[in-house]
Amino acid sequence: MQPLSDSLVVAIVSLAADAIICVDSRQNITFFNEGAARVFGYEASEMMGQPLSLLLPARIRGEHPAHVSAFGASKVSARKMGERTLISGVRKNGEEFPAEAAIAHMPSADGNVYSVVLRDVTAQRRAQEMNERLIVEMEKAVNQRDEMLALVSHDLRNPANAVKMLAGSILRDDAENPSTLPHDIVERASAMLQAATQMDSLIQDLLDSSRIESGRLRLLPASTRVADLISAALETLSPIAISKSVSLTCSLAPELPTVFADASRVGQVLSNLVGNAIRFTPEGGTVSIQASRDGKGVLFAVQDSGVGIAPEDLPYVFDRFWQSKRMNRSGAGLGLAIARGIVLGHGGKIWIESSPGNGTVASFTLPTAPPPGFRP
Ligand SMILES: Nc1ncnc2c1ncn2[C@@H]1O[C@H](COP(=O)(O)OP(=O)(O)OP(=O)(O)O)[C@@H](O)[C@H]1O
Ligand SMILES: [Mg+2]
Repeated sequence: MQPLSDSLVVAIVSLAADAIICVDSRQNITFFNEGAARVFGYEASEMMGQPLSLLLPARIRGEHPAHVSAFGASKVSARKMGERTLISGVRKNGEEFPAEAAIAHMPSADGNVYSVVLRDVTAQRRAQEMNERLIVEMEKAVNQRDEMLALVSHDLRNPANAVKMLAGSILRDDAENPSTLPHDIVERASAMLQAATQMDSLIQDLLDSSRIESGRLRLLPASTRVADLISAALETLSPIAISKSVSLTCSLAPELPTVFADASRVGQVLSNLVGNAIRFTPEGGTVSIQASRDGKGVLFAVQDSGVGIAPEDLPYVFDRFWQSKRMNRSGAGLGLAIARGIVLGHGGKIWIESSPGNGTVASFTLPTAPPPGFRP
């Protein structure tokens, strides 16, 4: 490679976007490029022979020359941008601005000479401050939303339960004394009970999801048999599968170890996964729950022969309130987010594999022993 000519070097340095300034051993300016003129607002001709400290805020002008001389006497010949904390410069109009600077010294016949490359970082600083402010505001808004969600959900549970209890008592009266209540009253009470139960479960999901988000989900894990977890899930989910003409089966590997799990919360995970599998599988399809040994834990898999999930949707399925636009959107979009929170709370993993037309497999693992650092 040919060495650059002096005139070419001068042209490049003059045009550089950064301010490039050279000073002699007395720290008086000997070179001031166009970038420096743009940043500081002085013409190069005005600055020749002027002290470098003129470009600094008055409060550090006195001590600065001694710092530069100390650097000149040190063994370090150059300090790059970013190695030093931000410095401040002052423009001709008196405006102070934040800057990053690199400095180098080299000996000359007349003592040490210095070159400084300085970058005005006002715009970056403003963008950074704006980003930081936006992040703080966003976190505040999300916290406020979650607090409100938790408060409203909590306060809605009592009236929902009151409706459930009252509708239930009408149905009990009818069962104990058949034909005393008009038929249409019994029918309406049954519809009220169903609606209030649905409302209660939605409120419960909202509460769980805000507990998970704020790290307040309490788990009460104990040594639990996998077969017990699965048979409890089958008991509540089989009637739903039958009502949709979907076959629901299970298969357990022999001699599975017990898992260290909160049975009621794992029941919720299975119910959410199997509930989805049944909902997104057309009549005549199949859903199976499998459990097998997986290293130090147990692997659960819920497989369906349903519609599947598009590859572009897969990354979002565990997000709160996310539901595919392509499908029946009857729930709230919380089931998988809650399942994830519960499984991660146990120290397990959860994932979904799927492709449209080939069904879906939702898998999760649970540990057989308390995770390290677990405190009952
Ligand atoms: N087995 C599945 N087959 C196809 N799509 C699924 C399956 N499981 C989940 N999905 C997709 O992921 C979305 C999110 O599931 P998630 O369980 O979190 O919410 P939801 O079932 O819509 O509502 P919720 O569970 O709160 O009642 C679903 O709406 C659906 O689009
Ligand atoms: Mg669901």
